[in-house]
Amino acid sequence: ATIHDQKLQRGEGGELHQLAEGATPVLTTAQGGPVSDDQNSLKIGARGPTALEDFHLREKIFHFDHERIPERVVHARGYGAHGYFETYKSLAKYTRADIFQRAGEKTPAFVRFSTVAGSKGSVDLARDVRGFAVKLYTQEGNWDIVGNNIPVFFIQDAIKFPDIIHAVKPEPDSGFPQAQSAHDNFWDFISLTPESMHMIMWVMSDRAIPRSFRFMEGFGVHTFRMVNARDESTFVKFHWKPKLGLQSVVWNEAVKINGADPDFHRRDLWDAIKAGNFPEWELQVQLFDQEFADSFDFDVLDATKLIPEELLPPVPVGRLVLDRMPDNFFAETEQVAFMTQNVPPGIDFSNDPLLQGRNFSYLDTQIKRLGSTNFTHIPINAPKCPFHHFQQDGHMAMRNPVGRANYQPNSWGEGPRESPQAGFRSFADVESGPKQRLRAESFADHYSQARQFYLSQTPPEQAHIAAALTFELAKVKTPVIRERMVSHLVNVDRGLANGVAANLGLQSMPKAADAAMPTRQDLEPAASLSILAK
Ligand code: HEM
Repeated sequence: ATIHDQKLQRGEGGELHQLAEGATPVLTTAQGGPVSDDQNSLKIGARGPTALEDFHLREKIFHFDHERIPERVVHARGYGAHGYFETYKSLAKYTRADIFQRAGEKTPAFVRFSTVAGSKGSVDLARDVRGFAVKLYTQEGNWDIVGNNIPVFFIQDAIKFPDIIHAVKPEPDSGFPQAQSAHDNFWDFISLTPESMHMIMWVMSDRAIPRSFRFMEGFGVHTFRMVNARDESTFVKFHWKPKLGLQSVVWNEAVKINGADPDFHRRDLWDAIKAGNFPEWELQVQLFDQEFADSFDFDVLDATKLIPEELLPPVPVGRLVLDRMPDNFFAETEQVAFMTQNVPPGIDFSNDPLLQGRNFSYLDTQIKRLGSTNFTHIPINAPKCPFHHFQQDGHMAMRNPVGRANYQPNSWGEGPRESPQAGFRSFADVESGPKQRLRAESFADHYSQARQFYLSQTPPEQAHIAAALTFELAKVKTPVIRERMVSHLVNVDRGLANGVAANLGLQSMPKAADAAMPTRQDLEPAASLSILAK
């Protein structure tokens, strides 16, 4: 026991004793020094000046000055909960991952839901994608499925990520606007990025204003691999299906809720879990091989595409239950560090260029945000299985290798050694080809799945998509951007394009957009102006 234990107190003679029930412990500095007066700084006379010698004042103010860490560069606003994952049945045929070997096995989990574009203090009901990040503390290390509530993404290549995020975040000169209001930069970027059209259909749909976190789906988005003990690979897509079903609010409700209770989603999760209504999701997987992948016109490495569930029904493999709120929002929800590269043996990556970029980005951003390479020493990020490595020292190190040798091999028989059997082995895919910057031809169709999604919606849901596009584009001040967006809608669905064009009061219908990203020349200011003048 330490004095940090709130129930212990040091007595007059310095001895530790149990505090009497209801007794108030003595306030101390962070160094443990008892404090005599926490109301007044140390002054010369009654009216100052204040003495620099006041170490309690200095410590208290200094610590307060350092309370904030950088908010996440994206997904800044989030809310997390603890729970567990329960495996339904062995998937040993497909993967050697320990978490999928035994039916009924429970694995501790932490989940953080988030919005993407707004800052930490923004509102819960913004029209936005929701993050659905799951950390599974498996017996072979942490496995993070860092997903969203929408199964596809805006861009195909990670190199475009800073651009789309800059376009959606506040402008560098004015520092506004915030995420939920449409603005020229975002729609400018989208209208110049045809690959985003499928995602835009989802983001303009009711999916982007969920009723609560408990009524949301989650998706791993990318194609991953499962690799079995014989080193055979099967492609896999991960889906979280809410037991409560899928529910959204309508835009009118979202606007009112944001005004009345900007914490609506986090309050809902807190209240539900505290009341014992534990939300639950089923993990479902779409498993397929190379031959099946090759049967599509689109590329399974393209994160703007999904594999239709009618063609490949997802199979339930386990369930996720959230049953405990964090005790400490900062220590757990704020400091949790998700990383797509956290995979156990038996789960592996595909060549999706968005995923490949993410695998680099998350470690980098966690070191910056949490301030040290030792962010795995923070309990929420530490593995819950045995772990042994030779990393040492650094800012805020809580532990170091034990013993004489912090290297291997060594002659002292100390420390861990690698294991070809138990360790992670990358799937030995054969890769070849010229080194080049190129978008594959198989990534070129940007409209078919956008159309499929739009047509899969019921008439009221389609009307909501048209209303959302009208609302957003009506706020765009630059006419050429509105027209360019409508020219993409022509490729998605004529009826949708006509409706939005009429609502926006366009004089004439723009011709269908070119599916290729415009070249620099297309975007010469003069070219844009000539469209304007028409
Ligand atoms: C954060 C999902 C694409 C960089 C997050 C979070 C989620 C997420 C859920 C929040 C994690 C949390 O709750 O703490 C996704 C999905 C993507 C995607 C599903 C596409 C399929 C990208 C790309 C990049 C990126 C392409 C960069 C190349 C980041 C960064 C953070 C983040 C830097 C902040 C992490 C932190 O500070 O904790 N992403 N993301 N993401 N993402 Fe992504």
